Amino acid sequence: MYSFNNLYEKIGINKPVVLVGMMGAGKTTIGFRLAKKLGLPFIDTDEMVSKTVGCSISDIFKYQSEQYFREKELEAIINALQIGPSVIATGGGSFISDEVMAEVLKGGIAVWLRAPLDVLVERVSRKNTRPILERGDKKEILRQQMEDKYTKYENAHITVDSDILTHYHVVNTIVTKLQQYILKNSAL
Ligand code: S3P
Repeated sequence: MYSFNNLYEKIGINKPVVLVGMMGAGKTTIGFRLAKKLGLPFIDTDEMVSKTVGCSISDIFKYQSEQYFREKELEAIINALQIGPSVIATGGGSFISDEVMAEVLKGGIAVWLRAPLDVLVERVSRKNTRPILERGDKKEILRQQMEDKYTKYENAHITVDSDILTHYHVVNTIVTKLQQYILKNSAL
């Protein structure tokens, strides 16, 4: 029997839930499942950029430039934030831009999906679709990025560990933390 899932309304989510974090943290996989659980549309900004430009992220880096990709990524995130309640998975480098961070913190609820280095390395090794990781040793690049980027990700409203737990548990933890965050902020 069809049942309308409006968990997001029951919790009181009235803006996009935006997943940020490193490559391999599980933003797309978890985001898709989270959206389903909350009854919200799922948006992947890498996919938006790819569709807008008409080629893969790897080809954008190869035939245009990283700078061009970052411009399109900012546009995609600003457009996605206009859609209203939704779950948005962003690319790992986006939240590092002060402009992107400001837009996300203003227009959405930012959730940092945090995972240890070994888990990231294991996950990114399954595909060769990330141009930045083709520039050298994947583990070393990710290790360096963790050092550089954690001070940015720490600004997210909510942090959730996405390591050894199953997707099911990570999604449930995000839902619980969203509930707590909304309760706390509506009481202010
Ligand atoms: C990037 C992360 C990728 C994608 C692009 C650049 C980055 O997204 O946006 O390859 O700079 O960290 P994922 O985090 O979904 O892999």
